[in-house]
Amino acid sequence: MVEALRETVRSARAIVLLSGAGMSAESGVPTFRDALTGLWAQFDPQQLATEAAYRRSPALVWDWYAERREAIARVLPNAGHRAIAAYQQRHPGRLTLITQNVDGLHQRAGSPGVLALHGNIAEDRWLDAPRACCQKEAIEPGRPPRCPVCGNLRRPAVVWFGEMLPQAELVAAQAAAEACDLMLVVGTSGEVYPAAGLAGVARHAGARVVIVNPHETALDDVAHVTWRQTAAQALPALLAEPG
Ligand code: OAD
Repeated sequence: MVEALRETVRSARAIVLLSGAGMSAESGVPTFRDALTGLWAQFDPQQLATEAAYRRSPALVWDWYAERREAIARVLPNAGHRAIAAYQQRHPGRLTLITQNVDGLHQRAGSPGVLALHGNIAEDRWLDAPRACCQKEAIEPGRPPRCPVCGNLRRPAVVWFGEMLPQAELVAAQAAAEACDLMLVVGTSGEVYPAAGLAGVARHAGARVVIVNPHETALDDVAHVTWRQTAAQALPALLAEPG
């Protein structure tokens, strides 16, 4: 299996790698659904990660993101992130990296031009359109921080359920999926669209689709090959140079 997959990688002209939360599991970042443990076990991610939830319970949702942000700041990219970045540096322009992850670990590993479809948890922005009084320098700290004049709240700069993805990134991701001849789908449950749909776009356009995931995914039927392996084990084996 590994040797055949390595050959597929070697002969590929244009590769797209689509990553999800499982990519960072071996760095110690709980996957999105696994993150709802302990105090958070009673919540459903689809209830917590929405604008309506934030407006209803801003302190609760802010605290959930703050906890994740702190956890992410303490971890490092793993061997999988590093193998991708090293491959991209050895073969400039051959591998387009699309991620659903908001943890910034691909960027910290040194991957150039990451298409981050769901934003970045390290950043925040205004919840409502900013008025003249909403100045970054004057943000009042709190849970969440707010504009001291009009009360506009800061919110995590991530894409919530029901929100549009950043258009430029999505268009670039779709174009890359259409143009690739190999798509590696790593560490995603494949349940959240439109990101999950990129595997079908690639397959439809004639690419070979390979899934790397220790468990079944909703995209297994779209793939030519499913490799039940973890990201940090599989990617160094797939992307390292021979010999
Ligand atoms: P999920 O939490 O839905 O799925 C994580 C996937 O990683 C599962 O399929 C696991 O089997 C797999 N996995 C676990 N450990 C792994 C490992 N060591 N190596 C490889 N795979 C492993 O996460 P996503 O598919 O990323 O969106 O979820 C997609 C989106 O749903 C997230 O980006 C988030 C959430 O809603 C937003 O926040 C908008």
